[in-house]
Amino acid sequence: MNTTDNLIPRPSHVALLDGPAFTLAPTARITAADATAPVAEQLASLLRRGTGFELPIAEDTRPGDIALELMEAFDGGPEAYAISVTDDGVRLTASTAAGLFNGVQTLRQLFPASLEGTDPSAGTWTIPAVEIADAPRFAYRGLMLDVARSFFTVEEVKEQIDVMTQFKLNALHLHLTDDQAWRIEINDPGSAGNPSGLPYAQLTAIGGQGAVEVPTAVPARGRHGFYTQQDFRDIQAYAATKNVLVIPEIDLPGHVNAALAAIPQLNPDGQAKPMSTTAEVGWSTLTADLPATYEFVREVLNQLAAITVGPYLHIGGDEAHVTGHDDYVAMVQQFVRIGAETGKAVVGWNEFAAVELPEGAVIQYWHGDFEPTVRQAGNNGSQVIMSPAATTYLDQKYTSDSPIGLSWVEGGPFTWSEYYNWDPAQGGLQDHQILGVEGPLWTETVRTNQQAQWLLYPRAVSLAEVAWSGQEVRNAGDFRRRLGALGERLAMQGVVFQEAPDVEWSAKPEYPFAAATASSEKYGTIEV
Ligand code: ACM
Repeated sequence: MNTTDNLIPRPSHVALLDGPAFTLAPTARITAADATAPVAEQLASLLRRGTGFELPIAEDTRPGDIALELMEAFDGGPEAYAISVTDDGVRLTASTAAGLFNGVQTLRQLFPASLEGTDPSAGTWTIPAVEIADAPRFAYRGLMLDVARSFFTVEEVKEQIDVMTQFKLNALHLHLTDDQAWRIEINDPGSAGNPSGLPYAQLTAIGGQGAVEVPTAVPARGRHGFYTQQDFRDIQAYAATKNVLVIPEIDLPGHVNAALAAIPQLNPDGQAKPMSTTAEVGWSTLTADLPATYEFVREVLNQLAAITVGPYLHIGGDEAHVTGHDDYVAMVQQFVRIGAETGKAVVGWNEFAAVELPEGAVIQYWHGDFEPTVRQAGNNGSQVIMSPAATTYLDQKYTSDSPIGLSWVEGGPFTWSEYYNWDPAQGGLQDHQILGVEGPLWTETVRTNQQAQWLLYPRAVSLAEVAWSGQEVRNAGDFRRRLGALGERLAMQGVVFQEAPDVEWSAKPEYPFAAATASSEKYGTIEV
């Protein structure tokens, strides 16, 4: 076995060559033209840290260098790349910076795992002679972080981006609002734009203080906080350097208690609701016959669209259990129109397929009747993000005695294999109707980045391969072997993962719960 056998996600084509291997020498350089320099710099810093070599960026290529090249007419789409390794050097080509970024992730894995450490004496930096040609099956390969139930700081979100992107995941959906909290700053538009005088600043002043409280979590209460609009821009700017698109979600018309607590005018009686910490779902709603409802949604979506770089705005639509059907349709029909008028494509959980969707809308299928999703995809060209709970929900327990996690999804608990052994093209959906795959991490029981990583990995790696690699190159037995090899790499990076017992791990992860006999003011000490 050599490193070309361990790549995750598995590339479309890998052909070992007969010739001698490439060895990175202390005198090697990374060569790049102007447009490729930022990606070249990222590769250089990865390699410098692991090897201790200088690895300057240069413009002309000499034998022994690693060359990054943009080629206009490159086959395979914007994210495709090719790598050619001979004893003479490494050549990475793509038609876009995103393609080069993907190739850099593969190149990183082609070097021995000791590259991830900081002990330059630990490795010989050799790659077998090989040709790789690779392109993703789906354009959207995402994770969702629920920052509403429990908050994650800007720095923590960036750390999650650092880890996920090595597997070529390229979308981060931030669930910014829910019953327990509101996490994105909305500015007061001034009196002209605010006929009902809605106190937008209260959304974060009051709503930002909220969080869920669950006795089995450590600590029991989630973390509070919010993103200023500048914070949100900052997250997106960082994400863009790693080929990640951020999709913000404002969950409507249910999951809105924090908004109802912050803005009295959103309630039929004009009285603000109390904030709530319960993990129960489906008990709050906006009101269809209040004009303030639409004024509020328009202002929030307009401001959010103005600070969102990517083409998508997620407007929720799930679990509106106390919204009458007619009211649901009346409101969501307006919300998708308001969303589309911002110039963004609206995304919603599959319940929102009950309304007539505008062109370009995206349905995120998670649960329940699949038929409306498939029908809308067939009728009006809506694309689908596949997040079926039983094959993608990263908040679910691994085993019945997992210290954190939820267990409501039928068929669970779920390990890496349930999230690997499925094909997103199901129920009559074809690949061209599927935008991609996303694994949501709901945070009722998650309090730290380490706890989040433990639920994410290795299952998010399964999803990365499902989303990237064609069915024809996927194989669960081989994937399990590659996961085993990946353990050493993750452990060296300090990434926590669940030590799935059916995988022969090359290194043990840290267990993030050892010190977690902790305390919560309300529930006392909890052994986890
Ligand atoms: C969801 O899990 N309520 C989308």
